[in-house]
Amino acid sequence: MAIFIENVLDVHTLEAISEVLAAQSLFEEGKKTAGSTAKKVKNNLQSDANSSLVKGAIRQVEKALFSNPVFVSAAQPLKCAKIIFNRYETGMGYGEHVDDAFINGTRTDLSFTLFLSEPESYQGGELIIKKADGDESIKLPSGSLYLYPSTSVHYVAPVTSGSRLAAVGWIQSRVRLEEHRTVLFDLVSALKQLPDSPETNTSRLKLLQVQSNLQRLWSD
Ligand code: NI
Repeated sequence: MAIFIENVLDVHTLEAISEVLAAQSLFEEGKKTAGSTAKKVKNNLQSDANSSLVKGAIRQVEKALFSNPVFVSAAQPLKCAKIIFNRYETGMGYGEHVDDAFINGTRTDLSFTLFLSEPESYQGGELIIKKADGDESIKLPSGSLYLYPSTSVHYVAPVTSGSRLAAVGWIQSRVRLEEHRTVLFDLVSALKQLPDSPETNTSRLKLLQVQSNLQRLWSD
């Protein structure tokens, strides 16, 4: 299951992060952290992981994610393997690749891209997910996020004008299998739609019991 989540960052946080990341000195060659295969196709700039300003901005993103109820019910996050900011200037892109199965010793079940530039401020730069039934092209408003299984082949189309800033990250889920995460997400959605009235109390409790017991069965 892949999902769009709107307004993961509020306007204030988005502005604060964009202001910090406006400094070009906080960015370095993206090839630095790419594996040998990805190195050949990766052409972007990414944030300096040692910078305290960058670390602060990453903490803000992580906090926003882990307090977003849609993100939490879709990802069932156990921990975040890594978050980096990347910037694609005109002419830059990231060719077809797969994300590493483990990053910093953490299994990557889900990947996300949090868009930080307004879509009309640059051309190209779509995140493309390769699929048997047709590729998916993603370009979202700033502050919105795309969450997708890390199992896919994907790429970032070349930016043909302007500059594209985003945060990307990897999550280890408590629930390893995508199918299981989808069932749990659907269950949470059904619970949210259940009217809050004395007549539905027994059903609600039963569904909560099913949810808890499936989480026990399906978590690592
Ligand atoms: Ni990737």
